[in-house]
Amino acid sequence: MPKLIVVNRDGAETTVDADSGLSVMEAIRDNGFDELLALCGGCCSCATCHVYVDPSFKDKLPEVSEDEDDLLDSSDHRNENSRLSCQLMLNDDLEGLKVTIAPED
Ligand code: FES
Repeated sequence: MPKLIVVNRDGAETTVDADSGLSVMEAIRDNGFDELLALCGGCCSCATCHVYVDPSFKDKLPEVSEDEDDLLDSSDHRNENSRLSCQLMLNDDLEGLKVTIAPED
């Protein structure tokens, strides 16, 4: 059960236990963070699950798909660490992954 560190929009850091196989979005949502709207439920069509990923984990994450890239482009807050958290599946390699919930667009 990987640990996930979530930084909310106020900068507060919380560590949660997350099941492998869940997406980062599901793990955040299921742990009561209401800042992450995840309006489309994880089908990569809303961009309201935008997070910034700790750069030290970048190599362990899947490539950004074209759809994800297009959606991230629609955000005013995209930076080089931006990802859609519904597209990141948790596994043991991501133990200790730290994500920061991006500002709302
Ligand atoms: S939840 Fe909609 S794109 Fe991730």
